[in-house]
Amino acid sequence: MPVLKVNNLLKKFGGLVAVNNLSFTAEKDEILGIIGPNGAGKTTVINVIAGTLPVSGGEVVFKDRQVTELPAYQRNQLGISRTFQTVRPLQDFTALENIMVGALFGKKLQLNEAREKALKICEYIELERHDLPIDKLTVLELKKIELGRALASDPELLFLDEIMAGLNSEETWQMIELIRKIKENEVAICVIEHVMKVVAELTSRVIVLDRGDIIAQGPYQQVSQQKQVITAYLGKEG
Ligand SMILES: Nc1ncnc2c1ncn2[C@@H]1O[C@H](COP(=O)(O)OP(=O)(O)OP(=O)(O)O)[C@@H](O)[C@H]1O
Ligand SMILES: [Mg+2]
Repeated sequence: MPVLKVNNLLKKFGGLVAVNNLSFTAEKDEILGIIGPNGAGKTTVINVIAGTLPVSGGEVVFKDRQVTELPAYQRNQLGISRTFQTVRPLQDFTALENIMVGALFGKKLQLNEAREKALKICEYIELERHDLPIDKLTVLELKKIELGRALASDPELLFLDEIMAGLNSEETWQMIELIRKIKENEVAICVIEHVMKVVAELTSRVIVLDRGDIIAQGPYQQVSQQKQVITAYLGKEG
């Protein structure tokens, strides 16, 4: 049974069809890649699955349960979690407190339990400087906070929206290793990624989006050779 099943997912912004009747599944034992050029609809797909934005049509089924109409926090409590493309930590909080937020809302824990959980997550993601305020941290540390907050609700389905953006080569490798470690804990992971090296390393399968449509899917090595995928990335007229 797939962890996630979306059927004919549709999202319109006024006259713009950002996600056009998409259907796909995600499995527990895989890292699925969602790729495509800027504006293809990748983040919007996450937003409608996580409940950040309402759908215009179609359904989202998580572990055999209809969640299409549920608010984001309830989907989060059920096990759907995501990171944001633009990291937006709470500025007046420490790294640890930011991660606690995920446990407080996603798991409904008491304050001291949330702190314990956040400390364990900091150890797991190797975020040592967790007692520092946000403005003292590096990009990698900020990305780890974003990841830690998402992990604090114990997700079974985790969306990572361009988590590698802004990282250097060595930091990218650290993050790749971390994502592999998370997958070993039986979390279904969907990575949205522009860095093709990362897509090639991490994913067993990719879905290629262009203007809201799936234009190709399969192992990255195969789809990256396909003409319509190359054309979508190089740009086309009209
Ligand atoms: N809240 C919104 N209101 C109106 N239009 C939106 C909104 N969010 C996204 N769009 C539009 O929907 C389309 C898909 O955007 P989306 O952010 O999902 O693309 P993306 O594939 O994530 O792009 P990128 O790689 O640049 O992050 C774009 O044309 C975008 O301008
Ligand atoms: Mg995006």
